[in-house]
Amino acid sequence: MNREDFYMLNEDIIYFDNGATSLKPKILSEITSDYYNKYSANAHRGDYDISLKVDNKFEHTRNLVKQFINAKEKDEIIFTSGTTDSLNKIIFGYFKNVLSNEDEIIITKSEHASNVLPWYELAELLNLNIKYIDLTDNYEVTLNNLKQIITDKTKVISLAHITNVIGDVRPIEEIIKYAHELNILVVIDGAQSVPHMIIDVQKLDIDFLAFSAHKMYGPTGLGILYGKKCLLRNMKPIIFGGGMNASFSSDKTRIYSDLPYILEAGTQNIAGVIGFGKIIEYINDIGLNKIEEYEKELRIYAINKLKQNNNIIIYNANATSGIITINYKDIFAQDLAIYLNKYKICVRAGNHCAKILQDELKIKNTVRISLAFYNTKKEIDKLIEILNNPNIKQEII
Ligand code: ALA
Repeated sequence: MNREDFYMLNEDIIYFDNGATSLKPKILSEITSDYYNKYSANAHRGDYDISLKVDNKFEHTRNLVKQFINAKEKDEIIFTSGTTDSLNKIIFGYFKNVLSNEDEIIITKSEHASNVLPWYELAELLNLNIKYIDLTDNYEVTLNNLKQIITDKTKVISLAHITNVIGDVRPIEEIIKYAHELNILVVIDGAQSVPHMIIDVQKLDIDFLAFSAHKMYGPTGLGILYGKKCLLRNMKPIIFGGGMNASFSSDKTRIYSDLPYILEAGTQNIAGVIGFGKIIEYINDIGLNKIEEYEKELRIYAINKLKQNNNIIIYNANATSGIITINYKDIFAQDLAIYLNKYKICVRAGNHCAKILQDELKIKNTVRISLAFYNTKKEIDKLIEILNNPNIKQEII
């Protein structure tokens, strides 16, 4: 779909690394160049026309994000530099102040580093315990397995909605409902889900959500931190400086700004924010439902073809997202990725920043094919043809 919108799809490449970052439609560079060339003022600081224009466009994006995830209020949308930054702010700005000795945090071994390492750091600082939900044979999370490890010390469950290697879609609606009955908060890492499926934060009753613009056809260096207003009000900034204070004086008294600005110190990624607004309109025009449906169709098509090659090990045949993780028998993952690169096929190989997943998978490195709406069955056929090459091992050696 919409391939003509992407400069990079005119090149002779097959891009299957959308889990790492997506391609950007032409409209993104047009909108950001427009900002840099025609009205490149700062936001929320000037009293002249072009600065006011920036303010309007900046806040327009906030509104679009609010609508995109159906947040209740615009002030619940905080711009950050990415999912990692959002999660760190949630963990050190909110949970650092509410957790204490021996409280328990629940995660899984298939989380990305960004949803593991900040928790490890906080656990060390406050003497907290980290617990992992047992995964099923398909490396999935079930409510039942979660229930097994919840205790009255459990204060927070922090999960990817869709994991970046297994690509399983977690049953977050039932998890959140159950957690809230026990007054447990739920943090959702939406980096791999928000670009590919409709997320309604109010319907799902999500407490905190983190995601990145660059995985949803938008700019790098921009992320979103969503939090319910009642929680954000109790969140402390972890970055201090301009734009987040109303006043301060030499006796150290200071008054900080209201939400969302208190959590957005310093000059923001203005071009990125304005560009991201256009991207949300672009996605809305295509229709996220349509994107989700098409990517599912592509996935099923690819899985059926991959299954026909007995040398291919598929780690997540049952997942439903556009993430497909494989290995080729007796070929090292990185070697396979380099081999595919010879044919201009871009995939990611390695541990994909999910370094404790190896405890479950019993293998450290895999090759990940991650799909987006601009991929085609023809591209998948090409991938299969290259993987089915009877001389594959000789070509790699
Ligand atoms: N988190 C990104 C990935 O999964 C970089 O590849």
